[in-house]
Amino acid sequence: MSENRVIGNKNSLPWHLPDEWAHFRKVTDGKPFLMGRKSFEAPDALHSTYKNVILSSATPESGSPETVYVKDISAALALLSGEDTVFVLGGASVFLEMLPIVQKLYLTIVHAQVEGDAFFPVVNQDDWILISSEFHEQDEKHEFSFSMNVYERKNTG
Ligand SMILES: NC(=O)c1ccc[n+]([C@@H]2O[C@H](COP(=O)([O-])OP(=O)(O)OC[C@H]3O[C@@H](n4cnc5c(N)ncnc54)[C@H](OP(=O)(O)O)[C@@H]3O)[C@@H](O)[C@H]2O)c1
Repeated sequence: MSENRVIGNKNSLPWHLPDEWAHFRKVTDGKPFLMGRKSFEAPDALHSTYKNVILSSATPESGSPETVYVKDISAALALLSGEDTVFVLGGASVFLEMLPIVQKLYLTIVHAQVEGDAFFPVVNQDDWILISSEFHEQDEKHEFSFSMNVYERKNTG
């Protein structure tokens, strides 16, 4: 997300950051994804080669064996219950619904204020510990600098 929490504009990412994209691909490689229908259909979407669980009120014919449509979060979680790790890929409403449930945030902060129509929810910093942060400078291939942050939920036990 940008510093003003934008994650998308007109169903696309508002930036082109190749090294961040490479990091995203590497971290999520081979893992199952959970995402909203619009994010899945976005022209620049990353799809899992293993399993894509897509939230939608409609249940279109699946285009491929690794893609399953579900009507709500509980159906998605039931379908993914056997998985060790699931990546929640957005968009806005899916991040909002899943933020209270997830244990880890891979949250890249793009150091810019950008225009958009999809937003990441407010993250309560009291709930999370920053466990790693990698800063990437702005350069000729990256119009904005960014920080690839990983947070873990604080143990409230
Ligand atoms: N920066 C990032 O990391 C990032 C990540 C993902 C997406 N994005 C951006 O975010 C934008 C898309 O996100 P968005 O928030 O507009 O849409 P979205 O969450 O990807 O998709 C919304 C759709 O998902 C379905 N849906 C969501 N929650 C559901 C639920 N609980 N039960 C049933 N269906 C549910 C509905 O589909 P139906 O209409 O079919 O019922 C809804 O219209 C794009 O601009 C994209 O580029 C950015």
